[in-house]
Order: sequence, then C-alpha cells, then structure tokens
Amino acid sequence: MFTKSESLYNRAEKILVGGVNSPVRAFRSVGGKPIFIKKAKGSKIYDVDENEYVDYVSSWGAIILGHADEDVLQAVVEASHNGTSFGFTNPYEVDLAEAINGRIKSAEMVRFVNSGTEAAMTSLRLARGYTHRKKIIKFIGNYHGHYDPFLVKAGSGLATYSLSASEGTTDGCIADTLLVEYNDTNSVIDVSEKNKNDLAAIIVEPVAGNMGVVKPDLTFLRTLREVCDRLGCVLIFDEVITGFRVSYGGAQELYGVIPDLTLLGKIVGGGFPLAAVAGKKEIMKKLSPVGPVYQAGTLAGNPVATAAGLATLKKLTRDKYEILENYGQKLENGINDSLKQLGVNGFVNRIGSMFSVFFNTNIVKKYGDIKSSNKFPEFFWNVVQNGVLIPPSQYESMFFTLSHNDEDLKRTLEAFRVAMNVLKHE
Ligand SMILES: Cc1ncc(COP(=O)(O)O)c(C=O)c1O
Repeated sequence: MFTKSESLYNRAEKILVGGVNSPVRAFRSVGGKPIFIKKAKGSKIYDVDENEYVDYVSSWGAIILGHADEDVLQAVVEASHNGTSFGFTNPYEVDLAEAINGRIKSAEMVRFVNSGTEAAMTSLRLARGYTHRKKIIKFIGNYHGHYDPFLVKAGSGLATYSLSASEGTTDGCIADTLLVEYNDTNSVIDVSEKNKNDLAAIIVEPVAGNMGVVKPDLTFLRTLREVCDRLGCVLIFDEVITGFRVSYGGAQELYGVIPDLTLLGKIVGGGFPLAAVAGKKEIMKKLSPVGPVYQAGTLAGNPVATAAGLATLKKLTRDKYEILENYGQKLENGINDSLKQLGVNGFVNRIGSMFSVFFNTNIVKKYGDIKSSNKFPEFFWNVVQNGVLIPPSQYESMFFTLSHNDEDLKRTLEAFRVAMNVLKHE
C-alpha cells in the first residue's frame, strides 16, 4: 500500500533530518514509515502510491475551504503573474490587514510575518518592550511555535516525543517563563500576584489545540483579562489555530474576551507561509519603524501569500461557520455513539471544525488530565488503512473543511468504528 512512500522515505532520511522538515511528520509516535503526499483537492488527499484519504489534518488547520480551492488558486495565479516577491509594500497587504481588522476585534493594527513562530516571537518582544518587564505566564500544554522561551511543557510535537523542554535552550532564556496549568484560574491569580512587578505578558491559546482540543472555562479567560488590566501586562491570544477557525471573529468573538495582542497564522495565509501579530494601536506602535521594538522580514507580506489569504477570508462569510458546525455535530455524535456501542472509554472534544478524541472517562481541562492510549498507533494505522487521514499523534487536533460532505462523513464514521475495535480491550 505504501511502496512509493517507503522508497521516497529511504531517500529523504539520508538528506533531510529524520526524513522530514517538521518532527511530527516523521510518524515516530505511531511507528512505521511516514506517508508522502502527492496532491490534494477539496476534502481528499492522495499519497504518492495513489491512496485516497478523507483528510482531517488539513495542513494542521491551515486549510478551511478545502484543498486547492478554485478561487484561491485563481488569486494566486493572478498575483504571481505580476511577480512573486517585491520587498516593497503591495496592495494585497493593505486589503488583507483591513479584512483582518473587520473581523478580529483586537486587531486595530497588523504586522505580517511568515510563520506562527515568528508571530509569537515578535509578540513577546513587543510585550516586553511595551511594559519594560520580562516575565511571561505560559500554560502547560500550550504551543506557541519554537522560539526558545516558549519551549517548555509545550504540548504538540514536544509532547508527542515526551519532551518537557528542548535541549539547546539556555536556563536564562526560559527562566522568565512561568508555567501554570491550563484553566487553573487560582494559580494564574497567585503566580501573577507574586510576579506583578516583572510580568510582561500572559500568552494563551484561547482554545487549546496542541494537547488535543481543550476548551477554556469562561472564568479562566475572563480572569486573564482582569489580571492583565490590574497589573498592566499584555494579554496575548495565540489564535494561530483558532483565528477564522472557531468563529468568524476567532475565539475572542466566541468567548467575548478581547486580548491586547492576537497571533494569527495558518488560515490567514490560505495555505501559504503567512502569519500576523495584530493588536491595540498603542502597543503595535511600539514596533519598528514607528517605535523602538525591532522586527523585520524580507518576505513579510509576500504578495502571493497575502492574495491567497485575502481570497480565503472573502469566502469565509458568517454563514459558512454554520455549515462547519452542522458537519461537526454529526461527526461528534457519530464517533461518540460508536465509542458507547463498543464500550470504549472516550469522547470527542470539539469546537466548530476542530476536534479530538480523548480516551478518558473524565472531562479534560488541563494537560495532566489527558489519558493517552498505548493502542493509539494501532488505531491510527487502522483508520489510515480505511481511507481516512488523521494526525499521527494523540496530541494534535483534527480539522475538517467546508469541502467535507456527507459521503466523507459516512466513510469517516465507518473507519473510526472499525479502528475503535482495537481499543476495546484496553
Ligand atoms: C497555537 C499555535 N501557535 C503557534 C504555532 C506555530 O506556528 P508555525 O508552525 O507556523 O511556526 C502553532 C503551530 O502549530 C500553533 O498551533
């Protein structure tokens, strides 16, 4: 089934570290060799051996219209015919920044960068430059990319490989990162009070998406806002996943809690390398060239990437989120029904078009609550062999798109039900 993938992997392993350019793609936590992808269209993705899958990775959340959307493709072709990079400001950047401003409440001003990691890195420097303080509160199991200060207990890829922190980061670099459990409102109050003169920022995934999908308590998010207002520190919502995913205006619209800075990535680039820091004018104006906090980028605001992002946002009207919710509800009910019927402990955690299956009996509120299943590798390969692609890790969210239809739903529920049999006797 995977002959061509295997032979490509054998070549890749010799020249790309681990055969990949991002660790989770190496399939290490599920065993076996990674699948290599040749093409994707709509809800389907095809490996180099021509196997077809209903895709629930969706480029780790970057794709929401469906793969190779015709309008996005047209925008990309048009933009690239006029040149692929100028190193000067182009009209798409202004249009896209205005579109973001029209949807994301906190986004009074925008700075485009190339990746979520870069956005998170910039926001931290900005928060420190604005407050003249250095410490940050970060939540265990939240992931904000691979900038050193965030690489402690960061969920996602680190959790997949059972790493608490990355080697190569200095003690000094992570000494200012204060760790608190997600949804632990009392600890936030306690830790922030103890560090009130040094605290520059609280950074949070408003819906956690890198330890499976974990929903925030509303009081937790509201407390973060109150603490930041009281202590004069910057509240950063990392909406790299949730922005334009969980609602038209992101998690901040869904929960009615407005941060000072918002990080955007994935969907904002319509499948191209683009991300953004957006936020209150007063803070954003500290960025270079207006303010003293330096940040720059050769490819920042690239015309092709911003054109793709703009074409994507144009199609993501409010009514589209009802379509996603409708599919999500049927998917969630179907998976939960199978779990119940087969007597497997577990449930679906879902917000809109992002979801995960926890093999727990109790509700998951924080990283420590997650019960991982030793049978996950078997489960994963079983789902894949039944024509459905899910992330090769228990800690990553699954995502679907506007292209997923009832036929996909049927195939997905069947594949999940068959694969769940391997979890039955755990
Ligand atoms: C919430 C969150 N923030 C930041 C990042 C980093 O983004 P990138 O991979 O584009 O650097 C990710 C990546 O998955 C993410 O999920």
